[in-house]
Amino acid sequence: MSVMAKVIVQHVCSECGTSTGRWLGRCPGCSAFGTLVEELSGQATQERRGAGGIARPLQRLADVRVEEAARIGTGVPELDRVLGGGLVPASLVLVGGEPGVGKSTLLLSALGNIARAGRRALLVTGEESVAQVKLRAARLGGAEEVEILAETELEAVCATLEQERPDVCVIDSVQTLFSAELGSAPGSVAQVRESAGRLLRVAKEFGVATILVGHVTKDGSVAGPRVLEHLVDCVLQFEGDRYHAHRILRAAKNRFGSTNELGVFEMTGSGLVGVPDPSELFGRTHVGEVGAAVVCALEGSRPILLEIQSLVSKTDLAMPRRVGTGVDPKRLAMIVAVLGRHAGIALGAADVFVNVAGGVRIDEPGADLAIALAIASAARGLPVAEGTAAFGEIGLTGRLRPAAQAERRLEECAKLGIGRVVAPEGTTARGGPLVTRAETLRQAIAAGLDTARKPLAAEEE
Ligand SMILES: Nc1ncnc2c1ncn2[C@@H]1O[C@H](COP(=O)(O)OP(=O)(O)OP(=O)(O)O)[C@@H](O)[C@H]1O
Ligand SMILES: [Mg+2]
Repeated sequence: MSVMAKVIVQHVCSECGTSTGRWLGRCPGCSAFGTLVEELSGQATQERRGAGGIARPLQRLADVRVEEAARIGTGVPELDRVLGGGLVPASLVLVGGEPGVGKSTLLLSALGNIARAGRRALLVTGEESVAQVKLRAARLGGAEEVEILAETELEAVCATLEQERPDVCVIDSVQTLFSAELGSAPGSVAQVRESAGRLLRVAKEFGVATILVGHVTKDGSVAGPRVLEHLVDCVLQFEGDRYHAHRILRAAKNRFGSTNELGVFEMTGSGLVGVPDPSELFGRTHVGEVGAAVVCALEGSRPILLEIQSLVSKTDLAMPRRVGTGVDPKRLAMIVAVLGRHAGIALGAADVFVNVAGGVRIDEPGADLAIALAIASAARGLPVAEGTAAFGEIGLTGRLRPAAQAERRLEECAKLGIGRVVAPEGTTARGGPLVTRAETLRQAIAAGLDTARKPLAAEEE
């Protein structure tokens, strides 16, 4: 561009991308505090925007001709499922995850599979050197055909993509790209936004399915402006803590598929291995253990058995703790309140801890009953009856509501050898495990706990 860029100082919100002329403590766009950061932006973008365009002929949707573009299989079934059946050609996907969770590993094996299937797969690495990627490729195996480019300059990356037109391209990571036209540092809001915007144009225009790797902030959302998430077609989150071998991949946004799908992986020396049957792994409890219950939760189209553990311990705190790992804290507080009010399990003087096995996060209300059962088991010192699972939503009145897709959940229970399920009144079942129906939470707890046993005293637990 011939214009000498005149530097303008702007303050841009790192959450929503709103820009203001001066610094403000609170973003006028999204009302978040302390999110405005200084950005130096060249005048070039403004001038480009001002230029007049040429009117284009319009089309009616009925006249639009589509060739049903076949999805590109990544050769990683768990990844394909979360994407909604494979990568859509010319789409832009953002993959976020904590440092070291395995983003590069997952995407390198996907690229390897794509390349071996006869498509062109390109890895643009800005974080690691070519030699480092080579080492990883040697460890994973099967990625020999992947092409690689070590480049961080946005213009060069875009030009290469336009010229080479690979079928799939992975950018590791979007935070390392920078455009010399903008004055700010790589990873800043303006740079990330510009990079994503330009890559989006290249992806759509030249038919390159592009996967951006994004860093995450402390609270787990993708770093950089929220705008990034709006821009891309699909946002995948790779979760699971570094100290556990299991990783969970889920879609936070997907323009071409469900966002409820879940992929489970295990990190091994030779890369990430898909876990096709996570229920087997996460849904086992030890017989007679106090404070553990099994839920059959639904993640997208996939029912999954999960062990929920709870610990109830006496406390002197004026505000007892309710700590949930993998469950929504508001939901947990509600369940504890309903237990106290409607099921005779007072927890006002006790800390309550709840944990979902395997680092899985449950977002659906169908897990309420099993969470309540685990807490009740811990509070009473009675184990949940042997071979029993539970699902159902708890209402504020203590009445249970049927959970969605009960049939599928029961099927999964039957598959894993669960003999009996405690579920709300109105749950329909054809075959499968024995279903004990309960109208209220109190009844469900009476049915779910192994009351024939002698309760453990609180001190013994
Ligand atoms: N030889 C090995 N054996 C087993 N696991 C390994 C081995 N080498 C690396 N790993 C695993 O791979 C993980 C790193 O994966 P990867 O580099 O793909 O993560 P990443 O998400 O790309 O991280 P970053 O954000 O830092 O780029 C490590 O945390 C480790 O668990
Ligand atoms: Mg990486």
